[in-house]
Amino acid sequence: MTVMVTNAEVLALEAAPAQGKTRATATADVPERRPAQAADRAAQPVLALSQIALTFGGVAALRDVDLAVAPGEIRAVIGPNGAGKSSLLNVISGLYRPDRGEVWLGERAFAQVPTARLAAHGVARTFQNLAIFKGLSVFDNVLMGLAHRVRSGFLRQIIGSPLARRIDAENRAAAEDVIGFLHLGEVRERAAGTLPYGLQKRVELARALVARPTLLLLDEPFAGVTLSEKLELSEHVRNARDSYGATIVLIEHDIGVVMGLSDRIAVLDNGSKIADGTPDEVRADQAVIDAYLGVAHQDITELAV
Ligand SMILES: Nc1ncnc2c1ncn2[C@@H]1O[C@H](COP(=O)(O)OP(=O)(O)OP(=O)(O)O)[C@@H](O)[C@H]1O
Ligand SMILES: [Mg+2]
Repeated sequence: MTVMVTNAEVLALEAAPAQGKTRATATADVPERRPAQAADRAAQPVLALSQIALTFGGVAALRDVDLAVAPGEIRAVIGPNGAGKSSLLNVISGLYRPDRGEVWLGERAFAQVPTARLAAHGVARTFQNLAIFKGLSVFDNVLMGLAHRVRSGFLRQIIGSPLARRIDAENRAAAEDVIGFLHLGEVRERAAGTLPYGLQKRVELARALVARPTLLLLDEPFAGVTLSEKLELSEHVRNARDSYGATIVLIEHDIGVVMGLSDRIAVLDNGSKIADGTPDEVRADQAVIDAYLGVAHQDITELAV
């Protein structure tokens, strides 16, 4: 299943009203408690989902899904086509409102995450269908990842002032930094749409990373790229965690990449989470093998990069 997301929808991430509640102001519909999975963790999870259910017409896309992602983790979400992976990311980023359940971003619980304030909550994402501005330069695409700063009412009021110029300079420096980090310097002035697909994916990653998100959501960042681009991109994802300190939720079909890159893996099948553990635990899980991997344990082990 493919969810079409246009550039206009990326911009619409800035448009919806906020609906979150801090724990201090939580009411009956958002109970004051930590999600169950987090209870045994010393550190507050960066992201916790509690009993998320989502249906489209008669189709259950997500069935009571729990997930806790610890700070600094690279957490893969895998599963067959239509398992609910993108739906899960769309719930976390507020594009879908779940029928039931809560999304916790650090200390804040949401019945629906406010897309307009995603960046302010330290969340950035990439899309299953590439969402970059093909006519804009690489540099301007990356700068778009900081557009929320420029659009704030305060900044609009001070446009042209020394402070606004300083913030603009800071944004440009941040864009240059991430362009250097992802080795995009040689193509920084090129229209993004003219680049090979793998580089376009890297531009999208740069746009997501430029705001230095606490939580980075990646929906199939390696889909459709060549093997060498895939290995390169996967190294960039690891570096994003190591150098930028981002906690990462990664949807990916390539089991080899997932096994090599992830600290933990959650497996969805038909909207339900059927396994959640380290790569070793997941590859040994008979339910996962039966439902998804469909090959013998030994074969999966050999796939790890
Ligand atoms: N906007 C939507 N409208 C209707 N049904 C939807 C919508 N989004 C998802 N679904 C349905 O929800 C289920 C889960 O879809 P989802 O896109 O989350 O799966 P996925 O695991 O990301 O699949 P893929 O690997 O193909 O990307 C599917 O049955 C899909 O048809
Ligand atoms: Mg998907």
